[in-house]
Amino acid sequence: MSKSELIRNLENTIENIPDFPKPGIQFKDITPIFLKPKLYEDVIADLVNFSRGKVDAVCGIESRGYLFGIAVAVALEVPFVLIRKAGKLPPPFIGEKYDLEYGSAEIQMRTGQIKPGQRVLIHDDLLATGGTTQAAAQLVEKQGAKVVQFSFLIGLKDLRGEELLKKFNAEVYSILEY
Ligand code: PRP
Ligand code: MG
Repeated sequence: MSKSELIRNLENTIENIPDFPKPGIQFKDITPIFLKPKLYEDVIADLVNFSRGKVDAVCGIESRGYLFGIAVAVALEVPFVLIRKAGKLPPPFIGEKYDLEYGSAEIQMRTGQIKPGQRVLIHDDLLATGGTTQAAAQLVEKQGAKVVQFSFLIGLKDLRGEELLKKFNAEVYSILEY
Protein backbone atom coordinates (compact mmCIF):
# COMPACT_ATOMS: atom_id res chain seq x y z
CA MET A 1 0.00 0.00 0.00
CA SER A 2 1.42 3.41 -0.95
CA LYS A 3 1.65 6.17 1.63
CA SER A 4 -1.28 8.07 0.12
CA GLU A 5 -3.38 4.88 0.06
CA LEU A 6 -2.50 4.23 3.69
CA ILE A 7 -3.55 7.74 4.67
CA ARG A 8 -6.80 7.49 2.70
CA ASN A 9 -7.58 4.08 4.14
CA LEU A 10 -6.93 5.30 7.69
CA GLU A 11 -9.04 8.41 7.19
CA ASN A 12 -11.89 6.21 6.00
CA THR A 13 -11.48 3.82 8.93
CA ILE A 14 -10.94 6.04 11.98
CA GLU A 15 -14.32 7.22 13.24
CA ASN A 16 -14.95 10.76 14.33
CA ILE A 17 -17.31 10.92 17.30
CA PRO A 18 -18.52 14.45 18.02
CA ASP A 19 -18.97 15.68 21.61
CA PHE A 20 -17.22 12.73 23.27
CA PRO A 21 -16.16 12.51 26.08
CA LYS A 22 -17.20 16.15 26.52
CA PRO A 23 -19.17 18.66 24.46
CA GLY A 24 -16.96 20.25 21.80
CA ILE A 25 -14.42 17.39 21.66
CA GLN A 26 -14.13 15.40 18.41
CA PHE A 27 -13.12 11.91 19.56
CA LYS A 28 -11.04 9.88 17.09
CA ASP A 29 -11.95 6.21 17.49
CA ILE A 30 -9.10 4.02 16.26
CA THR A 31 -10.74 0.70 17.20
CA PRO A 32 -12.01 -0.01 13.63
CA ILE A 33 -8.34 -0.36 12.55
CA PHE A 34 -8.21 -3.64 14.47
CA LEU A 35 -11.05 -5.04 12.36
CA LYS A 36 -8.73 -4.79 9.33
CA PRO A 37 -5.57 -6.85 9.90
CA LYS A 38 -3.96 -5.79 6.62
CA LEU A 39 -4.43 -2.12 7.46
CA TYR A 40 -2.97 -2.73 10.92
CA GLU A 41 0.08 -4.37 9.30
CA ASP A 42 0.51 -1.41 6.98
CA VAL A 43 0.35 1.05 9.89
CA ILE A 44 3.06 -0.91 11.71
CA ALA A 45 5.20 -1.07 8.56
CA ASP A 46 4.95 2.71 8.17
CA LEU A 47 5.89 3.37 11.80
CA VAL A 48 8.75 0.84 11.55
CA ASN A 49 10.00 2.54 8.40
CA PHE A 50 10.21 5.85 10.31
CA SER A 51 12.27 4.35 13.16
CA ARG A 52 14.36 1.61 11.54
CA GLY A 53 18.02 1.83 12.58
CA LYS A 54 17.45 4.95 14.67
CA VAL A 55 16.39 3.71 18.12
CA ASP A 56 17.57 1.26 20.79
CA ALA A 57 14.25 1.03 22.66
CA VAL A 58 10.57 1.91 22.26
CA CYS A 59 8.41 3.35 25.06
CA GLY A 60 4.65 3.06 24.68
CA ILE A 61 2.14 5.07 26.70
CA GLU A 62 -0.82 3.34 28.39
CA SER A 63 -3.13 2.32 26.99
CA ARG A 64 -3.55 3.07 23.32
CA GLY A 65 0.18 3.55 22.84
CA TYR A 66 0.60 -0.18 23.51
CA LEU A 67 -1.58 -1.24 20.61
CA PHE A 68 0.98 -0.25 18.00
CA GLY A 69 4.12 0.41 20.04
CA ILE A 70 4.82 -3.17 21.00
CA ALA A 71 4.47 -4.39 17.41
CA VAL A 72 6.85 -1.66 16.26
CA ALA A 73 9.42 -2.66 18.91
CA VAL A 74 9.21 -6.34 17.99
CA ALA A 75 9.66 -5.54 14.29
CA LEU A 76 12.66 -3.31 15.10
CA GLU A 77 14.03 -6.07 17.38
CA VAL A 78 14.49 -3.64 20.29
CA PRO A 79 13.08 -3.67 23.85
CA PHE A 80 9.59 -2.32 24.57
CA VAL A 81 9.11 -0.44 27.85
CA LEU A 82 5.66 0.30 29.26
CA ILE A 83 4.80 3.73 30.58
CA ARG A 84 1.78 3.27 32.83
CA LYS A 85 -0.81 5.39 34.52
CA ALA A 86 -0.15 5.85 38.24
CA GLY A 87 -0.82 3.05 40.69
CA LYS A 88 -0.30 0.04 38.41
CA LEU A 89 3.43 -0.68 38.61
CA PRO A 90 5.27 -2.35 41.46
CA PRO A 91 8.39 -0.55 42.76
CA PRO A 92 10.96 0.54 41.85
CA PHE A 93 9.48 3.14 39.54
CA ILE A 94 9.68 6.85 38.83
CA GLY A 95 6.73 9.12 38.07
CA GLU A 96 5.98 12.38 36.35
CA LYS A 97 2.88 14.52 36.90
CA TYR A 98 1.27 16.44 34.07
CA ASP A 99 -1.64 18.82 33.59
CA LEU A 100 -5.01 17.82 32.24
CA GLU A 101 -7.74 20.19 31.15
CA TYR A 102 -9.07 19.92 34.73
CA GLY A 103 -6.60 18.79 37.38
CA SER A 104 -3.55 16.61 36.86
CA ALA A 105 -2.47 13.03 36.23
CA GLU A 106 0.70 10.99 36.66
CA ILE A 107 2.48 8.41 34.55
CA GLN A 108 5.15 6.03 35.78
CA MET A 109 7.76 3.58 34.49
CA ARG A 110 9.87 0.88 36.09
CA THR A 111 13.41 2.06 36.72
CA GLY A 112 16.20 0.12 35.08
CA GLN A 113 14.29 -0.97 31.98
CA ILE A 114 15.54 2.01 29.97
CA LYS A 115 19.34 2.14 30.00
CA PRO A 116 21.49 5.30 30.14
CA GLY A 117 22.63 6.35 26.67
CA GLN A 118 19.87 4.55 24.80
CA ARG A 119 18.22 6.29 21.84
CA VAL A 120 14.50 6.07 22.56
CA LEU A 121 11.33 6.29 20.48
CA ILE A 122 8.24 7.39 22.37
CA HIS A 123 5.10 6.14 20.69
CA ASP A 124 1.44 6.95 21.32
CA ASP A 125 -1.71 6.81 19.21
CA LEU A 126 -2.49 10.50 19.48
CA LEU A 127 -0.69 13.80 20.00
CA ALA A 128 -3.20 16.31 21.36
CA THR A 129 -1.93 18.96 23.85
CA GLY A 130 1.34 17.03 24.16
CA GLY A 131 1.14 16.93 27.96
CA THR A 132 1.18 13.13 28.19
CA THR A 133 4.01 12.73 25.71
CA GLN A 134 6.09 15.47 27.29
CA ALA A 135 5.82 13.77 30.69
CA ALA A 136 6.81 10.45 29.10
CA ALA A 137 9.90 12.02 27.52
CA GLN A 138 10.88 13.56 30.85
CA LEU A 139 10.68 10.12 32.50
CA VAL A 140 12.98 8.68 29.84
CA GLU A 141 15.52 11.50 30.00
CA LYS A 142 15.60 11.44 33.84
CA GLN A 143 17.10 8.00 33.42
CA GLY A 144 19.96 9.19 31.25
CA ALA A 145 18.55 8.04 27.92
CA LYS A 146 17.87 10.31 24.94
CA VAL A 147 14.51 10.67 23.26
CA VAL A 148 15.37 10.82 19.56
CA GLN A 149 11.94 10.21 18.02
CA PHE A 150 8.22 10.58 18.73
CA SER A 151 5.65 8.77 16.59
CA PHE A 152 1.86 8.94 16.53
CA LEU A 153 -0.97 7.72 14.37
CA ILE A 154 -2.69 11.07 14.65
CA GLY A 155 -1.47 14.59 15.38
CA LEU A 156 -4.05 17.26 16.21
CA LYS A 157 -2.31 20.31 14.79
CA ASP A 158 -4.49 23.01 16.37
CA LEU A 159 -3.58 21.89 19.89
CA ARG A 160 0.11 22.65 19.24
CA GLY A 161 1.45 19.58 21.00
CA GLU A 162 4.54 19.66 18.81
CA GLU A 163 5.62 22.95 20.39
CA LEU A 164 5.87 21.26 23.79
CA LEU A 165 8.10 18.56 22.33
CA LYS A 166 10.55 20.94 20.60
CA LYS A 167 12.88 21.07 23.60
CA PHE A 168 13.76 17.40 23.14
CA ASN A 169 15.28 18.06 19.69
CA ALA A 170 13.75 14.83 18.45
CA GLU A 171 12.04 13.89 15.18
CA VAL A 172 8.24 14.02 15.37
CA TYR A 173 6.10 11.95 13.00
CA SER A 174 2.31 11.56 12.76
CA ILE A 175 0.85 9.38 9.98
CA LEU A 176 -2.27 11.56 9.91
CA GLU A 177 -2.66 15.21 10.80
CA TYR A 178 -5.96 16.89 11.56
C1 PRP B 1 -5.24 9.96 25.09
C2 PRP B 1 -4.39 9.56 23.90
C3 PRP B 1 -3.02 10.08 24.30
C4 PRP B 1 -3.34 11.33 25.11
C5 PRP B 1 -3.11 12.57 24.29
O1 PRP B 1 -5.07 8.99 26.09
O2 PRP B 1 -4.37 8.14 23.74
O3 PRP B 1 -2.33 9.15 25.13
O4 PRP B 1 -4.72 11.22 25.49
O5 PRP B 1 -3.45 13.72 25.01
P1 PRP B 1 -2.47 14.93 25.28
O6 PRP B 1 -1.55 15.08 24.07
O7 PRP B 1 -3.39 16.10 25.41
O8 PRP B 1 -1.73 14.64 26.54
P2 PRP B 1 -6.00 8.82 27.36
O9 PRP B 1 -5.36 9.50 28.51
O10 PRP B 1 -7.39 9.26 26.99
O11 PRP B 1 -5.99 7.27 27.71
P3 PRP B 1 -6.02 5.90 26.88
O12 PRP B 1 -4.88 5.89 25.91
O13 PRP B 1 -5.81 4.90 27.96
O14 PRP B 1 -7.35 5.77 26.20
MG1 MG C 1 -3.54 7.43 25.58
